[in-house]
Parts: sequence; C-alpha cells; structure tokens
Amino acid sequence: MEKFIVHGGAELEGSVNISGSKNASLPILAATLLTKEQCVIRRVPDVSDTNYMLQILQNLGAEVERASGTVIIKCEKLRSHEAPYDLVRKMRASVCVMGPLLARHNRANVSLPGGCVIGDRPIDLHLRGLEGLGAEATVEGGNVHLEARYGLKGDTIDMSGKHGATVLGTDNVMMAAVLAQGTTVINGAACEPEVVDLADMLNAMGAKITGAGTSCITIEGVSELGGVEHTVIPDRIEAGTFLVAGAMAAKSKITLKRVNPEHLTAVTDVLESCGCKIEKEEDTISISKAENPIGANITTEPYPGFPTDMQAQMCALFALTPGISVVTDTIFPQRFMHASEMKRMGADIKVDDGTAVINGVEKMSAAPVMASDLRASAALVLSGLLAKGNTEISRVYHIDRGYEHIDDKLIDLGANIERLPANA
Ligand code: EPZ
Repeated sequence: MEKFIVHGGAELEGSVNISGSKNASLPILAATLLTKEQCVIRRVPDVSDTNYMLQILQNLGAEVERASGTVIIKCEKLRSHEAPYDLVRKMRASVCVMGPLLARHNRANVSLPGGCVIGDRPIDLHLRGLEGLGAEATVEGGNVHLEARYGLKGDTIDMSGKHGATVLGTDNVMMAAVLAQGTTVINGAACEPEVVDLADMLNAMGAKITGAGTSCITIEGVSELGGVEHTVIPDRIEAGTFLVAGAMAAKSKITLKRVNPEHLTAVTDVLESCGCKIEKEEDTISISKAENPIGANITTEPYPGFPTDMQAQMCALFALTPGISVVTDTIFPQRFMHASEMKRMGADIKVDDGTAVINGVEKMSAAPVMASDLRASAALVLSGLLAKGNTEISRVYHIDRGYEHIDDKLIDLGANIERLPANA
C-alpha cells in the first residue's frame, strides 16, 4: 500500500484541469447495460472506482475498450445478471447496476454492499423503489435478488428517506423505469447534477425523462434504447477540494479549469463568506486566500445544499481559521474520521453526534496519519500542505478511488508531495 509524504509550507499558484465526475461516471457506465449498441463515454476519470465498475460490467459480459479518458463499451451479449460480492464489496456504488440489470433481464442478483467508515450504507430506498415498479426483492446469503416476473410497470414512487433523497437510489429507479411499461413518477428524487447527467445520457439513448434536477422526475417507458456518445460533467467535488487547497495555500490565486461553476454555488458561497476572493467565468473558477479569514457554520444537505462530500475538506480549512467554526453532517453523521487524524496534527476539533466544533489553531504539525475514506483522506493532504514538517499519509489507495492523480495536480500547482511504496 502506497503512502504520501506531504512537505509543509506549500504556496500554490497556477491552474489545474478538473477531471470528469467520478459520481456521474459510475451510474452512466452502469446505464450502458440498457442497450445492445455501442456507447462512447468521454471524460471518465482514471480512478479505481471507475476501474471497478468496468470490471463488474466485463464480468457481466460487456466488451470494454478504454483509451485515456474515453470508454467504448458494448453490452450486446450479457452472460450474467449477477454482480458478485468480491467486486461489490470493493465499491458500494456497484449497487447501481441493479436497475439496469432488472430492466434488461427482469432479474438481478447483486451482493449487498458492506457499510463503510462514513456510516451504514443501506439500500432500503432502492429496493422500495424497484418493488414499486413490480420487482420482488429477497435478501439471502448477503445478496439481494430481484425478479420482475411480469416485467416492470410504471408507477408513482416516493424515494425520500429520513436523511433526504438518495442519489444512487434515484439513479437505480430511473434506469429501471426507462424500459418499464407505462409512466413512472419519482417523488422525493435526488436533484444532484450527476442525476441530471445520467438523465441527459438516457434521453440521448432514446429515453423519455423530464424533471431531472428537481425532486419530481417523470419517465415514460419505451421499448428499447440505442447507443450514445456522451461526455461526463466535471467533478464538482474534486473542484471543491482544489478550491479549499487554494483557500488554504494559494500564494496569490489558483485557477480551476474545465469546471461548471453553477454546480459549486453552495461551496463558493461559504468560501466567500470566509473572506476568500472568488472569480467565476464560463468554465473556470479562481480563488485567492482571505486576507482576514473567518470561520463559518455549515450544515450538509442534499443538492443544492452544502455537499457532505465537501465537509471533511472544510474541516481542514477551519482547523487553521481563527475562531470557532461548526460543521454538521446531516447526511452521514458519522463522517468525521478525518477529525481524529487531524487532532494528531494539532487540530482542536470536538465531534459529538454528527457535529464538529472546530477552534482554529495557528499552526498544525506533521504526524504519521492514516487515510480512511475518500474525502477524509483528501482533507489530510490539505492539512499536510501547511503543517510544519513532512506529513506521512498511509493507505492512499483511499484517495486514488476518487481523485485522478491528485498528487501530480498539486505538484503542478507548486506543492511538494512524494508518493512512496508503503515500506519505504
Ligand atoms: C452518493 O452516494 C455519492 N456516491 C456519495 O459520494 C455522496 O456522499 C452521497 O451520494 C450523498 O450525496 C456516488 O454518487 C457514487 P445516498 P449514495 O443514497 O447515492 C441514506 C464520495 O465521497 N440512504 O444519496 O450511496 C444514506 O444512508 C461518495 O464520492 C438510506 O437511508 O448516497 C444517507 O444517509 C461518498 N437508504 C442518505 O440516504 C437508502 O436506500 C444519502 O445517501 C439509500 C440511502
């Protein structure tokens, strides 16, 4: 397992190209199961999660070619309708093959995803939605087996849960509904840009979806879908992560290219309230450090609210911002693994019942720390940029799951990061 050595004292400048969205790519790759024709998907980030998804699709019988960011995939002859545990356990998002497999075969057999460090990851809302379309779900031996003996039939489905909407649950039901008989209305749907990107691609394949991006999505079932060429939207969470890097360590300013600023309003609003200077153009965002930084109180919410996937990164900024900041995660209340590691570096963070109270300190100091989940790990890299000394971060495979060459991109901005084998 590799590790990072992040040398403190970074002064970042210049520009960085943001990659295609991991969280849009995963359901979009799964959606290629819905047609026998060739699909060309561009700007698929080279991260381990998309690699796992392609392995799952190949395991099902898909023909896959990949050349840098472009994936050419054809699911003409599927030999299975099963997503096995040894692949699903590596990546929870593989549950989003359930909907397309059900639509294609009228059955699906998918291993139940394990939990993960950010909390319990149930799929009850996914199953409720798919049952609403006429599937029967049974759970046995750690697998969920879905069968639509009489085919899928459109209906009105409520997808809202106690923590708000479900992103992949909305994707699963939408992908099942596109080939169902009749019309489906999804109430309580997730509004994330990644859901909209999936709907855009499905419509380009011949689906009839309206309302994506709102909490009410209507899908008129069609008999078949065709092939497509689709370019994935920019990764708003990678972009947000680099905005925080700029807020913490920009020498004067850094510029993010190939982004969609509209997807980042909740994040840029908070950073501006903290005193950062933000400049937006059509597909770029620039950020300069605050001259007199102040903290903030943030609560994560479903889109367009402040994203839970940016919560850990903001904790890294607030750990060095004078005064008290309060961060509450209503989506994943347990998602504070980064706090205990940051405390090893001298941060003053108290976490209780889904809320972190952060008292900014003057300086943090390097310490050996351990990456845990994707975004917590990114937050440790951010903390290391300014810590006194050289921060050693182990288990960086967590970071490689969702960030395309984050070390190379930060080095290009002026950071000093080494990627070493674990035993170095
Ligand atoms: C997506 O996960 C993202 N992953 C997550 O990003 C992101 O944190 C999450 O949405 C919330 O925005 C991908 O898109 C691949 P949810 P998803 O279903 O769809 C509860 C990252 O760092 N819930 O929207 O799996 C759930 O426990 C990852 O890139 C149920 O109760 O999340 C949570 O509290 C981490 N029952 C809330 O809903 C269900 O059946 C939102 O979860 C499903 C979810």
